[in-house]
Amino acid sequence: MRRLALPLAALVWVAVWAALRFGVQPPIPGQVMGLYMSITTVAILVYVLADQERTRAFLAPLVALLRESHLAVPRLGVLIVVPLLLGWYTYDSVRPRFDPPFEARTIHPEPPASFRLHGADFDVLRGHRPEGMGVNAQNLAAGRRLYYRNCMYCHGDYLNGQGHFADALNPLPANFRDSGTIAQLEETYVFWRVSTGGPGLPDGATPWNSSMPVWQDFLTEEEIWQVVAYIYDATGYTPRESGSAEGH
Ligand code: HEC
Repeated sequence: MRRLALPLAALVWVAVWAALRFGVQPPIPGQVMGLYMSITTVAILVYVLADQERTRAFLAPLVALLRESHLAVPRLGVLIVVPLLLGWYTYDSVRPRFDPPFEARTIHPEPPASFRLHGADFDVLRGHRPEGMGVNAQNLAAGRRLYYRNCMYCHGDYLNGQGHFADALNPLPANFRDSGTIAQLEETYVFWRVSTGGPGLPDGATPWNSSMPVWQDFLTEEEIWQVVAYIYDATGYTPRESGSAEGH
């Protein structure tokens, strides 16, 4: 077992990554994932370094790669590829970009308990998708048409927030494929955001200059439910169950 210390450590690392990536719903956002994986790396190193024999076994393949004469070719490969990758990473992180300046904002503020929808109150916290507006093939097809007619210009034809107008907008249109947007939200929350857009955001979520339109001015309630169903279906995410999240 000891001789396999390095491959085993790599295997544990990949297993933890796979369990977090595929075994947890809703998906873990990228930055948090980075944090968990750094902790995993440190934990594995602490385990290895706690025992001298284990440390030696862990380092043995690396030492062999640097010393053994029959490994000259792989050694040369590694010595060329690693600096190139690091060089690219450094270049990529310092090269000038044309992104709009970063502004700290609360992306998912607490929603109001209810809001006005076409003159009636809609309960965001306890409400739900109405009977008769369920997720079915017909509603998804309608939602898709609505999306490409109304939302694509900002949120992109691939739903990744890179529509034609996106470069001119700050904040950027939400990227629905990113695990940090609709995947983290309850369906009624998304329904509220689509219905009331940027102007519907609470004061607490400033600075707000969101260009997200107030869709209840243009779409019926049924159409909003249809387009919400479509963006979940097209990205493969499911809405968060109500009550499973305290704050966002
Ligand atoms: C004029 C550009 C524009 C159009 C058109 C547009 N949006 Fe947006 N949308 C935005 C911007 C910018 C944001 C990010 C700021 C915010 O959350 O208000 C956003 C945010 C959202 C969010 C919030 C996501 C989150 O994680 O909180 C949802 C949901 C959404 N849009 C759905 C839609 C749907 C559905 C349509 C079409 C019916 C649509 N948008 C059309 C610009 C647009």
